[in-house]
Amino acid sequence: MSKEDPYSDSQLASMGLDRATLPKHVAIIMDGNGRWAQKRGLPRIEGHRRGVTSVRNIVEEASRLGLQQVTLYAFSSENWKRPRRELTLLMHLLRQYLVEERREIQRQGLRFRVIGNLAGLDPMIQQEIQTTETLSAQNSGMTLCLAVNYGARQEITDAVRQIVNAALQGQIKVDSITEETIASHLTTAGMPDPDMVIRTASEFRVSNFLLWQISYAELWVSDKHWPEFREEDFRTALRDYRKRDRRFGGLNPGASG
Ligand code: FPP
Repeated sequence: MSKEDPYSDSQLASMGLDRATLPKHVAIIMDGNGRWAQKRGLPRIEGHRRGVTSVRNIVEEASRLGLQQVTLYAFSSENWKRPRRELTLLMHLLRQYLVEERREIQRQGLRFRVIGNLAGLDPMIQQEIQTTETLSAQNSGMTLCLAVNYGARQEITDAVRQIVNAALQGQIKVDSITEETIASHLTTAGMPDPDMVIRTASEFRVSNFLLWQISYAELWVSDKHWPEFREEDFRTALRDYRKRDRRFGGLNPGASG
């Protein structure tokens, strides 16, 4: 069995996991790169660079575990407020990742997707995204989704605009607008909602990430900074998820009075 093969049921059991209780979709807010670097007297960008290693590690682990999707918050629409030098380096890292990871994405059979305001990105990055999305579109493995230049309020605003326009043109009846109508106009249309959101670096915020989609997600916060977050931490999160009691607003079977 090679290092990259999917885990068998008995391997999962030895990790305290089982297939039936794994989340389908995990969304991750990768926080603490800067603090990780600063604590070590390194420039912040070293934290981001090291963060890419965590990305590789967690994506591979999620794929071996058999998850359907992992969505990573790589760059928020608010991140443009950072110093120009950090922005340049972050965009460079992103481009490098898109190019270097293509082969690995194909090897693991991942479907690659990006959500966010892509038109606001450098055309070269848009091109790299498009190339990887197209190349991996027919793969049958886990979906790896990056949120880049993403903000949930903007995403919802754009969806409202599209729906209102369709209504004004008589393509949609106002009374027939449902939650599904809204979901199908978001950039995540067709993707399952995240079952779990992991955030690193001890921050208890959702920071404008997938606000519609995470309505019923379980939140899990790690005190590790993203550059030190590895597969063992991910498995710990999944073991905790297994113990959560997801009621979606209802009651447990058998509960009464
Ligand atoms: C938060 O750390 C992290 C980010 C703003 C970017 C995340 C980016 C990466 C992990 C690298 C690029 C990703 C890919 C997929 C190529 P922070 O800088 O806000 O940390 P701080 O709160 O400690 O300052």
